[in-house]
Amino acid sequence: MIIVIIGAQWGDEGKGKVVDLLADRFDVVSRYQGGHNAGHSVYVGDKAFVLRLLPSGIIHPDKVCVLGNGMVIDPKAFFEEVDQITEKGVSVSPERLKVSSRAHLIMPYHRALDHTSEERLGNEKIGTTLRGIGPAYEDKAGRRGIRVADAMDPELLKLRVERNLEEANRIIVLYGHQPLRADEILAEISPLVERLRPFVCETSHFLAEARKASKKILLEGAQATLLDVDHGTYPFVTSSNPTAGGASVGAGIPPHHISGVLGIVRTYATRVGEGPFPTEMLDSEENIANLIRERGNEYGSVTKRPRRCGWFDAVATKYAAELNGFDSIALTKLDVLDALEEIKVCVGYQMNGERIDTLPAVASELRQIEPIYETLPGWLSDTVGITEFDALPEKARDYVNFLSEKVGVEIGLISTGPERDQTIIIGDSTMESWFSGN
Ligand code: IMP
Repeated sequence: MIIVIIGAQWGDEGKGKVVDLLADRFDVVSRYQGGHNAGHSVYVGDKAFVLRLLPSGIIHPDKVCVLGNGMVIDPKAFFEEVDQITEKGVSVSPERLKVSSRAHLIMPYHRALDHTSEERLGNEKIGTTLRGIGPAYEDKAGRRGIRVADAMDPELLKLRVERNLEEANRIIVLYGHQPLRADEILAEISPLVERLRPFVCETSHFLAEARKASKKILLEGAQATLLDVDHGTYPFVTSSNPTAGGASVGAGIPPHHISGVLGIVRTYATRVGEGPFPTEMLDSEENIANLIRERGNEYGSVTKRPRRCGWFDAVATKYAAELNGFDSIALTKLDVLDALEEIKVCVGYQMNGERIDTLPAVASELRQIEPIYETLPGWLSDTVGITEFDALPEKARDYVNFLSEKVGVEIGLISTGPERDQTIIIGDSTMESWFSGN
């Protein structure tokens, strides 16, 4: 069984907790795109883990974790995370952590270029995480990137760094910054690359063998559907493909071997960074946005940036469901809405006086959209930690059923708090079959 997990909105839907829950039932957890721009929070007992690069399964000592070929890997961030987890008592060895030889490396000049690119864009900036993700993918597509396997040859690494830096420094200097030095970069990177060597693996072959041996594999998406470079709110997107098709390419798994796709959806929407956000709460709703931000701890888990808050967008989520082919949805953060008297849900868009039922491709048009809302009554009672659907207040059940109907996909899991056991699994759902391993 191979299941892909994907965020349906603009990220931060709470994938970390769901992957962590499901990881118990799986043998291998693999990421397939992105890098340390992600920030998945997982709480186990009194320990909080923030995972940026490593799959959330790493916290389970008996799981094998894979960083797939579609990823961009900053070796410094990789070992910072390995060391942080080791300090918290989780052992991380090459036997259970495998890095694709075909993944690309993020180099210090990629970080510098991420800064200059955002400076150059000024008011039009993307609001990236400044981790060097975009420039590393640019080098990959430009066929000058440095892959993990290339870096294992010190001569080749030196040649590539020198050549690429020449180009990068032209831009860095143009924007008034100090040029970077190849010898300093090599002095920083080379020991890390050596330390990486035992982790390097032909991961697509490893995953193929695991599948043949009937191992269960979870493919963990980072970022989310509306940040996808093809299908998201371009150009305000990340530089990779978090959507389901990206899982096949980025992990090196044939599409027909993927058995199911799970969407992670939050009961409201957020966005970090710039870009259109049709259901963003209005200035007049600032109190509600602040309440949600505080109750939901809506601050970047890595960057600490306050997240923009908005209402549930059924049009955008349905678009995500179609693109990814969600078989089931995990609905997270229900408890955050406990304090609201009324809850709005966007059920359609209006543009230039006309109703449209899908997302326009152009960002400037997306900004002009007027959401059409339906307002549902809040339940104004505590749902934290509830584990049975029938134990939810009636209005909370109505809200969940309304979202499922509008998006057209079953809701198989509801999260009622950050802890593993603060979860409802809906009986007879596809989700339940994944949990029971069928
Ligand atoms: P980049 O991935 O750093 O290039 O950033 C591009 C866009 O994706 C920016 O709007 C970021 O805020 C957003 N982004 C990147 N990673 C995440 C994530 O894990 N959660 C939410 N937004 C993200």
